[in-house]
Amino acid sequence: MLVLGIETTCDETAAAIVRRHEDGRGEIVANVILSQSAEHAAYGGVVPEIAARAHVEVLDLTIAEAMVKAGTSFEALDGVAAAAGPGLIGGIIVGLTMAKAIALVVEKPLVAVNHLEAHALTARLTDAVAFPYCLFLVSGGHTQIVAVLDVGRYVRLGTTLDDAIGEAFDKTAKLLGLGYPGGPEVEREAARGEATRFALPRPMLGRDEPDFSLSGLKTALRLEAEKIAPLSDQDVADLCAAFQRAVVDVVADRVLTGLRAFRRRFGAPTALVVAGGVAVNQAIRRALETVAGMADTSLVAPPAELCTDNGAMIAWAGAERIFRGMTDTLAASPRARWPLEETLAAEKAPA
Ligand code: KG4
Ligand code: ZN
Repeated sequence: MLVLGIETTCDETAAAIVRRHEDGRGEIVANVILSQSAEHAAYGGVVPEIAARAHVEVLDLTIAEAMVKAGTSFEALDGVAAAAGPGLIGGIIVGLTMAKAIALVVEKPLVAVNHLEAHALTARLTDAVAFPYCLFLVSGGHTQIVAVLDVGRYVRLGTTLDDAIGEAFDKTAKLLGLGYPGGPEVEREAARGEATRFALPRPMLGRDEPDFSLSGLKTALRLEAEKIAPLSDQDVADLCAAFQRAVVDVVADRVLTGLRAFRRRFGAPTALVVAGGVAVNQAIRRALETVAGMADTSLVAPPAELCTDNGAMIAWAGAERIFRGMTDTLAASPRARWPLEETLAAEKAPA
């Protein structure tokens, strides 16, 4: 089965062709990503209007390049998938409309993919992970611990009460005058900083529910920075190191709590799977490896380029759904807000 996937929910324009073999294994045939980071860098964050226009300008060429790289034609496809949300509505409309047009013209099934589901299922493309597994989804927009029971069956165990972890990295970078996206910049600075120089809080540590809160940490960091301003290069590095260490401690504690909650409700998970842009962070990955070991499971972390937004994950989610007959009509709507639990056949968490 050969599926085209289109991703336009944020600031990457991406298209990919993925094959799903009969035994369920996945294979990336072509994967093209055009990042708009440079166009948003001056603003320290993604500007929705600029993003939507940029998607319009480059999406057709991005798809054409993926098709050429795959050496295939639209007629040879078994389906067309596009991320229909959640995300920035202007970009989503661009990608979903394009997918509908292609599906209509070549008479192929359409799949309106939930972007979070695509992150959630990536480990099945890269590592053929079996259900059920515990997912730590950690990106610029989301911080969630989810029980992935099957395609379309997700139970959220924990989430952030305020900022997403990636967002906290981005805001920290902005505060300290570093570039955008902030995660890689903060990680680089942290590598040459002294983490113990500043005592930052570890919000939610030890709580029973595997939830997160980042805003207190962000405020504490700002107050420390204001106290010693103007900041030297070493100050910036030390603040980054302290921030990252606090995040790592919180992540370890919260994900371990999430894994225990998973086991109580669903039995042993096949793996702890990490997804989303923040999963690229090496210190966080190391902590997750330790935590997985403590919970008698192992960590599955897809390669960095498949953790950040990409078309292959959309194509793969499309393939998983087409295989199960879960396709959509041309009436599928773009959705700025679309919780993972609201994908088809989602289970309700008990109140
Ligand atoms: O999944 P993603 O590409 O986009 C969505 O948010 O959906 O994640 C982007 C986020 C940004 O907030 C970025 O700062 C963060 O992932 N990120 C990192 C690192 N690389 C990217 N955060 C911490 N450390 C990194 N090395
Ligand atoms: Zn994402």
